Amino acid sequence: MGRLIVVSNRAPSIDGSSDSGGLVVALKDALSKDGGLWIGGAPEQHENPSSELVLHHRPDFDVALFELEPELHDDYYLGYSNSVLWPAFHGRVDLIVVKPRYAAAYRQVAERLARQIAETVRDDDLIWVHDYQLIPLAHYLKALGVKCRIGFFLHIPLPDLQTFMAIPDWREMVKWLADYNLIGFQTRRDLANMITIFRHGLRGELRANGNIGINGREVAIGCFPISIDVQGFRRLAAEGAVATEPPPLPRLIGVDRLDYSKGLPQRLAGYETFLSKYPQFRSKVSLLQIAPPTRDDVDAYKDIRSELEHLSGKINGDFGTIDWTPVQYIHRAMPRDELAVLFRLSRVGLVTPLFDGMNLVAKEYVAAQDEADPGVLILSQFAGAAEEMTAALIINPHNPVGIAEAIKKALDMPLGERIERHTTLYAHLEGNDIARWSAAFLKRLRAPDDIGPDNVAR
Ligand code: ADP
Ligand code: F6P
Repeated sequence: MGRLIVVSNRAPSIDGSSDSGGLVVALKDALSKDGGLWIGGAPEQHENPSSELVLHHRPDFDVALFELEPELHDDYYLGYSNSVLWPAFHGRVDLIVVKPRYAAAYRQVAERLARQIAETVRDDDLIWVHDYQLIPLAHYLKALGVKCRIGFFLHIPLPDLQTFMAIPDWREMVKWLADYNLIGFQTRRDLANMITIFRHGLRGELRANGNIGINGREVAIGCFPISIDVQGFRRLAAEGAVATEPPPLPRLIGVDRLDYSKGLPQRLAGYETFLSKYPQFRSKVSLLQIAPPTRDDVDAYKDIRSELEHLSGKINGDFGTIDWTPVQYIHRAMPRDELAVLFRLSRVGLVTPLFDGMNLVAKEYVAAQDEADPGVLILSQFAGAAEEMTAALIINPHNPVGIAEAIKKALDMPLGERIERHTTLYAHLEGNDIARWSAAFLKRLRAPDDIGPDNVAR
């Protein structure tokens, strides 16, 4: 069998120092076999970037970095990826910023990267491309004569056809997607949108085996909900909690990148409604919101931080007392082990995105709980995770009263019901962890094109 070559916009650390959790843990085993390679963007930009991939040997697998000039990187990453595709794919077409140089940079990066990859790839290798920053890669690789099988996984949601058509060059985007052998999605919702988009954009036909027929060939599509290292995260939380004082009041917790898709103002509005409607809980609970800034050179992200500071300041001003601060707001990243303990010691996990591919925080919160006295997950119906985690309290983030009622219900929930819901959620997670996710995707990618998902045991 050939090598596995993983390609993503962000590369793992070249010394393994920040491997905790996520994709690296998921793919380490597969990459360690047969000389696997992870190709990713260099953490820093270069005025004179190398024209070749810059190779680093880790003990477990090799990492090859692609370097970009600062302007090209900004137009590709801040520009096309995060000012066109991110808002469009999250249903925020009002935030799309169209600039010809963004689209040009997006293609240029994929084309250059394809040339660099083509120099190292062999026909029996397997290439797995991750996420919206690199959609055109298979197109350029195939144009260069690369013959190996290429899979793509979309970590973010795929919007419906009308929203997708707001991307100025959406037809090209559909063609780029059709160049993959397998496209994986987080949810059935995304998969259904892909089928409609292929039908409309390329006259694609859904085959009996679940693949899409386009111009005489088949593109495999499938739903592969991503997960976490469930037992690892549980252990981290349980071990860390032993030496940690529980908070003085039952705590609600939210942990998110400071992104407009995460529904943070809506969460605070729900909490404010809760405190107004149920005054008996004032001074009896607190909300800890951890939200590190992200992509803050993109205009659409500039106002969120001050908006949240304003909203949390208002709640603290309106309801706080000398002895009680209703909202604690921290805007920086936390070490993973600390986060796991904070989740475990919080009575309620608040996950309220307006639209989210999966939302791993929802899964981490559940994995971190003490099964004898578990907290309650409140989860937006618009998170991909809601398709699987139906035993959570599912809410509509646009309705502050619904959020307030869910908070009340979570805080009042008897231990028996908390255990029952948690047992259901945890059992599902345990059977569907990140190792299973990557194995299922790779198995499907290795299978011949005309075999449907039913013939590929997960
Ligand atoms: P996204 O990929 O859009 O950021 P997810 O919820 O799927 O959203 O994944 C976010 C990941 O980042 C989770 O593993 C979460 O624990 C981590 N994370 C989010 N906020 C913080 C923070 N403040 N400190 C450390 N890790 C964080
Ligand atoms: O989950 C979506 C995603 O864009 C990933 O591709 C990325 O690793 C993560 O969110 C964080 O975003 P960024 O790499 O832009 O900081």
